[in-house]
Formats: sequence, structure tokens, C-alpha cells
Amino acid sequence: MQQVRADFPILDRLVNGKRLAYLDSSATTQKPSQVIDAISDYYRVYNSNVHRGAHTLAAEATIAYEDARTKIAQFIGAGSSNEVVFTKGTTNGMNLISYGWGLNRLREGDRILLTVMEHHANVVPWQIIAKHTGAELVYLELDEDYRVDLSNLDRFVDDRLKIISVSGMSNVTGTIGPVPQLVEAARSVGALMIVDAAQSVPHLPTNVAEIGADLLVFSAHKMLGPTGIGAMWGRPEILEEMDPAEGGGEMITDVRLYESRWAPVPHKFEAGTPPIAQAVGFGAAIDYLDKLGMEAVRRHEVAITRYALDRLSEVPDLRVVGPTDLSARGGTISFELGDIHPHDVATILDQEGVAVRAGHHCAKPLMRYLEVPATARASFYVYTTEEDIDQLVTGLYRARDLFGLA
Ligand code: ALA
Repeated sequence: MQQVRADFPILDRLVNGKRLAYLDSSATTQKPSQVIDAISDYYRVYNSNVHRGAHTLAAEATIAYEDARTKIAQFIGAGSSNEVVFTKGTTNGMNLISYGWGLNRLREGDRILLTVMEHHANVVPWQIIAKHTGAELVYLELDEDYRVDLSNLDRFVDDRLKIISVSGMSNVTGTIGPVPQLVEAARSVGALMIVDAAQSVPHLPTNVAEIGADLLVFSAHKMLGPTGIGAMWGRPEILEEMDPAEGGGEMITDVRLYESRWAPVPHKFEAGTPPIAQAVGFGAAIDYLDKLGMEAVRRHEVAITRYALDRLSEVPDLRVVGPTDLSARGGTISFELGDIHPHDVATILDQEGVAVRAGHHCAKPLMRYLEVPATARASFYVYTTEEDIDQLVTGLYRARDLFGLA
């Protein structure tokens, strides 16, 4: 993927006088020139609002916005672009679902099944809706190799189960979620099946028709696109049924003083001026990934993760917090280095030009469950090379030296 790196201008810069080894792609990915240029082109050539004006610029902006929707639909194997709703990102998508589906349907005693490895975006919205409705949250735990433990699943699968919502891939441990098994469980009792695909759509080939879930949400910025935009895919009948959680312009066909009519799906969920430049950038990111091919993206990630796990295993006192089995994980590696605080590890790595995230990674329930206060996390994407990993390992040895680990 050396030729891929050349498309990412930011990777040429120095950080603290050192070559940049950007290993924080689970937080956000870097952007190729193709995406940056598409956004710039929109502002320079056809900036306009969508779906409203009769003028040429408005028509061009509307076509580009709707083209991006079509590209996303094709990328995830949706039946039609009407199954794709633009959101502000995964968190916003999850809130649109929890309010739009959960608020009016959940009752006291109903259950929402999550796992302990969920990101706050797939925990907090359900806690809020549970408070409003009296529904109860229940959790699947992890096994000794950090995979979701399904041995207790049966005890949650009954007529109280109304929603299952699970991460396609953990942003902390890299664990791939057991989506097929949970889809089957949801189907058996008619529960709604949701996938938090923020970390999985960017890294794994995804076909919603094959997955069989009801709703799936993800963000553009974790897959080479801009921040501020994401997508919510839904089965047509679920999107029809779901209430809009946000009201305003664009999402109506008629407004009277005391009542309104909603626009057809997907526009019913897109209140206000949407993130148009971001949609154009999202479309360009999809084009870029399509050209690479998602099978190739996954192959590269498995290879670089294998290399990283091997190299990290050489570092004394380093403990990986995540699955060892490559087929069970993606390219997000959380780790601890002796008793050095992860923030100190990250600071020393930064001095070496290596960007990693340290902290609780917006997954405090998981950190408590694993009994670790924080981890350092290296996460990879299409532009990650063995040289980046080598630079990480050199930085980790430097941290050991500075902290006097023998
Ligand atoms: N969810 C993002 C991360 O894991 C922000 O860093």
C-alpha cells in the first residue's frame, strides 16, 4: 500500500521533527487528496443548498448529494438509495434510532440487549430511552480471548427482548462482534437488530442484504471521508415505521399551524440543511475504497495487524488487550506497557512522531469490565505500513528506557 500513502498529503509532514506514523485511525482516518479535492471543488464550483433552488448550482449540488447516497447504498449492498439516511455520524444515527423507534415502542419490562464492549454511542442513548420507557438494559460479556461470550445468550432471548444492538467491531479491543448469531437470536423473537458499524464498515466488506439486520449506522470520517456526516441504513419497512426524531425544514411535505406531514423516507429523517460538502466528500471516499476493493482493504489490515502483534510481542512487559486470533479482530490494538500510564506512553510516542490514542476510548463500561483504567491504542488503515509499526516499537523501547523498566 506504499502507493496509497502518496495520496495522503498529511502523511508527508513531520511531527516533533520525526516522520509521522499515524496510528490513530480508529479515532479518525486521514483523507486522500481525492476527498479533499472533491470538497474543495464543491465549494469552488457549485456550492448551493440542495432540494430547494431552481437554479443550476442548486441542481448540481442536489445531484452530487444524491449521487453520494447512491454510492453509499451500493457500497453496503442496499437494495435502494432510499434505504440510506444521511446523519451527522454514528452517534447521531444511534440517537435517531433510540428516539425514533425506541421511545414510542418500548414498555416497562422490555429488554435491550447490548454487549460490554460497546462504545458510549451504543450505551448512553439506550440508557436515556430506558429511563423514559422503563425498559431494561442487559449485557453479554466477553470470553478469555476478548470475544463476545454467547454461552448466556439463550437466557436473554424471550418475548421481553425488543432490541439487540451490537458493535460490528470494538474500537478498543478490535473484537469483531457476533452479528450473525445475534441476527438469528433477534429474528427468533421478532426483536429489532441494530449494528453499530462505525468500526466495521470501514474495515470489513459489508453487505446489508447478507447480514440480515434491521438497521446499521456508521460514520464517514472513519473511512477516509470528512467529519460531520454518517449514514443510517435501514430496512425499508423499518424506516417507514420509524418516527423522525428531529423536525424542521426539508423533512416535510406540508406544514400547517398544528400539524405536519412527513416527507418520504429517507428525507423524513434529514431535518434542516444537510452536510452537503461532507456528503460530496463521503462519496469521494467511497469511490476511493471501491477502487482499492474492500477485500483488499481487509487483507492489508490482517497482514499489518499480524505484523504488529508479532512485533509487539517482542516488547517486554507489553500486554495486548484484545483477541490473539486474527480472524476474530480488526486492526485496532489496545495495550498496556508495564505500569507506565498510557497517557505517558502516548506522550513519549508523540515525541517520536507516533500518533496513538490513550484513555478509555469512549468505552468506560468495557474498561471497568476489563479492570483496566486506560489503555494505549494503535489503530491502522489502508495507508499503514510496516515502517509505522517499527517506529511504534522503537518508541515503546524508548518509553521503557525513560521509565526505567528493566
Ligand atoms: N470512537 C472514536 C475512537 O475510538 C472516537 O477513538
